[in-house]
Amino acid sequence: MNAQEIQGWVDAAVSAFKGASTLDELKSARLSHTGDKSPISGASRSLGSLSPEEKILLGKLVGEAKASIANSLETATRRLEDERDKKMLAEEIVDITLPVRRNHRGGLHPISIIKNDISDFFIEQGYFVEEGPELESGWLNFDALNIPADHPARTMQDTFFIEPLESGMVLRTHTSPVQIRTMLTKQPPIYVICPGRTFRADELDATHSPVFHQVEGLVVDRGITMAHLKGTLDNFARYMFGPDVTTRLRPSFFPFTEPSAEVDVFFNGRWIEWGGCGMVNPRVLQTCGIDTDEFSGFAFGMGLERTLMVRHGITDMHDIVEGDLRFTRQFGVGL
Ligand code: DAH
Repeated sequence: MNAQEIQGWVDAAVSAFKGASTLDELKSARLSHTGDKSPISGASRSLGSLSPEEKILLGKLVGEAKASIANSLETATRRLEDERDKKMLAEEIVDITLPVRRNHRGGLHPISIIKNDISDFFIEQGYFVEEGPELESGWLNFDALNIPADHPARTMQDTFFIEPLESGMVLRTHTSPVQIRTMLTKQPPIYVICPGRTFRADELDATHSPVFHQVEGLVVDRGITMAHLKGTLDNFARYMFGPDVTTRLRPSFFPFTEPSAEVDVFFNGRWIEWGGCGMVNPRVLQTCGIDTDEFSGFAFGMGLERTLMVRHGITDMHDIVEGDLRFTRQFGVGL
């Protein structure tokens, strides 16, 4: 072994490390140039068998050679690790500017939204919400509301009767039976609204649906007059259609109210029929055991589909019934 030979091993190791283009290649270069079988390791081992003078001279050279090789190995390792990290960062980059995939979580149907809105409006004023069953007794749906046995609404055409017919059960044709249920179970003062599903034997067309929704209002208290009814409807109409709308009452007839009226709303420059209303017929109050010398009441009822259609200029009932998300999404999620 001599100085030249030793320098040769160093040069070979350094150029092998520099030439390595991956950490794996560097690993095998390291094994062959610094491992047990490498010339420099062999030289290290053989130092012991040299004369003292040679040992001093060559030992120094071998030591320096090992340091250079280690140095060069470290430089190469750092270079290749840097390259690997850079490559990894580039490959695994997350483009945070990409739009996220939209996940529609669903939402309430506009009918449910308007139903909740109406409930909130009245609850704020101290009303309770009563729902009542959709399958109703004919007595509550008709008789208790003073609708006589020969009233046209009772014919097979309008009402879904439940078999067997002797059961006397119907799918409620309006939410008014919930008035009766409330008056039979609660003492006045009564302030309730009854939103819910109602059923009539109509074909589905642009303005009708066999399944639709109404909201009923009922107030029974001391000294209730038509002025209270008008004020309540005005506020309700402004809440539904905007602060500028006005209402008008047109004389009408319902068996369960006396006097009765149609309530119209002046909206978008014309009068729109909105619902029915009136002072609760004393016969109805009496049927429910309410003392008509002490108490009087008003009631009103309107369709939710109709309210929604008027408010949003919807011209086809199918849009409300079909549940097409392109339609319903326009009303927001309503949660
Ligand atoms: N029940 C009526 C209908 O379905 C609507 C109605 C009219 C309800 C007058 C009322 C009322 O409470 O007072 O057409």
